[in-house]
Amino acid sequence: MKFTSLRLQQFRNYPFLELNPGEGVTVLYGPNGSGKTNLLEAMHLLSLGRSHRTSQDCEMITAGQHVAIVHGQTARLDGNHEVEVRLYPFEKPKKRVLLYGKPAQRIADLMGHATVVMFSPEDIRIVRDGPAARRRFVDMQLSQIRPSYVKALKTYLSALENRNALLKQQKFGNTEDFENELAAWDEQLAAAAAPIVNTRRWFLEELSGYASQQYAEISENPAEPFAIRYTGPLAETDTPYRDMLAGLERTRKDDLQRMYTHFGPHRDDVTMTLYGKELRAFGSQGQLRTAVLSMKLGEINLIENEMGELPTLLLDDVFSELDIRRRSALLKATEHLQTFLSCTDKQDAAGAHAECFLRVEQDAAGQARVVEG
Ligand SMILES: Nc1ncnc2c1ncn2[C@@H]1O[C@H](COP(=O)(O)OP(=O)(O)OP(=O)(O)O)[C@@H](O)[C@H]1O
Ligand SMILES: [Mg+2]
Repeated sequence: MKFTSLRLQQFRNYPFLELNPGEGVTVLYGPNGSGKTNLLEAMHLLSLGRSHRTSQDCEMITAGQHVAIVHGQTARLDGNHEVEVRLYPFEKPKKRVLLYGKPAQRIADLMGHATVVMFSPEDIRIVRDGPAARRRFVDMQLSQIRPSYVKALKTYLSALENRNALLKQQKFGNTEDFENELAAWDEQLAAAAAPIVNTRRWFLEELSGYASQQYAEISENPAEPFAIRYTGPLAETDTPYRDMLAGLERTRKDDLQRMYTHFGPHRDDVTMTLYGKELRAFGSQGQLRTAVLSMKLGEINLIENEMGELPTLLLDDVFSELDIRRRSALLKATEHLQTFLSCTDKQDAAGAHAECFLRVEQDAAGQARVVEG
């Protein structure tokens, strides 16, 4: 898939921008703070309905403006697509999606019109940070590959929120009504957990295969076997509904005491291993970097296999910190893909076979513009 046109209005430091990107590698270069990441973020928003770096949508609206608009057209194997996201600071709903100029019913309808894989310096957090960062990674990738997953996740999180709210009310006494209501939420939570668990397990098994292959190619030591494993309370079970109910039953006393649901896929994690040893605890800096890069490259393979076509690559400032080996692995991946690559110096993109150079600059008023050349 490829972006054929992009339009940003009042998005971050862009008052207005129109682009008709090429099919190959586009290099965005310019000083720090000029607006390179902002442009990549706009494409991420069009593809996944959210930013790659903030969960606060309103941060993307130009300060003081009443709406931000990102519009894009893409060419996929099945034809041309047109999608638009509008963000509002105050009006409800705060986020709206338009498909072919008409309002979509749900934000999730946006999925499948544009598909991207983003590489950014913050990716290292997937390995380094706590489980929430890894769940976020899995959820974001799955939402692109399996649009029905977004709905399933929403159903689960809303049941979880309701159950937690109920647990907080129980200080007013454990009546029979309360017990019945809690049992009803247990059922709903267990039903909602099953598709989440099954989809996450499938995804991580697939990704592990591709990523370990990538790792073996990049690593200086091909004997280092890299693997990704789904871990969590239901990761091993073939009967997630039944085991979720049993788990909720087991932790009920704890849940009541601490007024929070302790069992379920909201506590899932992903374990990454090298030689069977946990990477997070034992890996060197270089090994962590290679692991993240392998996972991202593996994701490209997975998307191609699942969707029958390649995604657009967004490479945010990742080139400068990679050594020659990793850099050439990444460059190899860009060969057949539409790619947007950001860097501060034009020279950082040497070897990228750039089709087009765009200079991003910010004027005295803080407004970004993009100039070819
Ligand atoms: N909501 C907003 N309204 C107006 N300007 C904003 C908004 N959000 C961010 N900016 C501006 O955008 C600029 C940052 O843009 P961006 O993160 O794209 O920079 P960059 O070119 O990627 O820089 P670097 O090379 O340091 O990564 C800053 O000047 C910031 O003030
Ligand atoms: Mg940046």
